[in-house]
Amino acid sequence: DDWPGEPNDVFWRQQIDSAERELDQGDWQAAVERASGSNLQDSARARYVIARALDQGAEVKRDNSLLSRAITAYLSLLKMNQHLTDKQLLEITRRTLDRIQFRGNYLNAEPVYRLLIRRFPQEPAYRNNLTISFLMANRPDLAESTIKDTLKLWPDDRVALAHHGFVLKTRHNLYEEAAKAFKKALEGDIGLANEARFYYHYGDTLLLLGRPAEAHEVHKRGAALGHFLSPSQRSLYNVNHLKSNPWWKIEDTPYVNLAKALERSWQDILKEGLAAAALYEQEKEGLKEKGDWSQLDLFVRGQEIPGRCKRAKVTCSIIKSEPAAFGCRRGQIKFSSMSAGTHVRPHVGPTNCRLRMHLGLSNTKYTYIRVDKEIRQWQTGKVFIFDDSFEHEVWHNGTGTRLVLIVDVWHPHLTTTERRQLPAI
Ligand code: LMR
Ligand code: MN
Repeated sequence: DDWPGEPNDVFWRQQIDSAERELDQGDWQAAVERASGSNLQDSARARYVIARALDQGAEVKRDNSLLSRAITAYLSLLKMNQHLTDKQLLEITRRTLDRIQFRGNYLNAEPVYRLLIRRFPQEPAYRNNLTISFLMANRPDLAESTIKDTLKLWPDDRVALAHHGFVLKTRHNLYEEAAKAFKKALEGDIGLANEARFYYHYGDTLLLLGRPAEAHEVHKRGAALGHFLSPSQRSLYNVNHLKSNPWWKIEDTPYVNLAKALERSWQDILKEGLAAAALYEQEKEGLKEKGDWSQLDLFVRGQEIPGRCKRAKVTCSIIKSEPAAFGCRRGQIKFSSMSAGTHVRPHVGPTNCRLRMHLGLSNTKYTYIRVDKEIRQWQTGKVFIFDDSFEHEVWHNGTGTRLVLIVDVWHPHLTTTERRQLPAI
């Protein structure tokens, strides 16, 4: 393809050829310098060399500020979009979007999708991907208006319908309408909306509506499609082939000593949990159907919350004796406080990579937890272990505020390498 803005002067054309060679040979700094020559401002080919060279530099040096410069360079090249061929535009935008997503600055994707939408108005995928960028950027308002535009043009587009269901559910709490949108999007389990996250939210919407039998049908479909490990184990960030049990015997885990140490010190742990009362935060994922539920994090994603261990010395010294607990980057260590009368609706955790230990601390009488099909009770001073990637539900039907210590530990079957390399959650 010919590139727009190619210089008339043979010297400058050869400068770009040389810069392209330098780029191919990995000398990205030389390529940037040469392609930035004074007479090359209007050359798309030179600008593309600069963007790719900065991109290459960012990868070699793992340097985010170089990556930001590369993205800026791609975006400036794309200002010439009207003069680029379809093929050129697609090649450049593909890499630009990939780098923007990697950098995590999702709003930068908007102008790129806008010009793809303008160039290919018959293609709903660009609008749907713009919706995803807005959702990733935590801008459900912008996502919603994009969805509505898309549905005006294509009322039956499954991905737009599924996103609409998601926004109706999570932004507006309009569960009936959300369920209808999901139903249409996932009818027959075919098409581009056939994705784990949509089955997850469809089922959850039906649970919110108090329609567990229909929810179960959706969860069965999701599991049959391979989106869930099983209808009741619906975590979305999974490692395959880990043993799946809703409830674990402590003796079947390598955490017997940890459990014993926690049980031995439960009274000191209780004191520490009570003494920090002012620091607890309300649970805000909308999981409780009624009541009060708050938590105090000590470790999150394998990192201590600064200053917390000073206030909970005994608890932390026990935790710090078990790397699978304090180093569990897919979990938390926290006190969990629940007032009498609370009901936590059925839900699942995000990952099958952890097991969740609970140490009962106070007012455990008439408190119940269902994990999958089996209901158990807390006991003060005692530990139990369950897998919170299975559906679970909690009732506090007793009196007084129930306190427990929650200790997430790596699933025992994860390898050392997996524990080191899995992205944190
Ligand atoms: C949960 O993990 O959802 C609950 O078990 C937490 C709690 O405090 O009981
Ligand atoms: Mn839970």
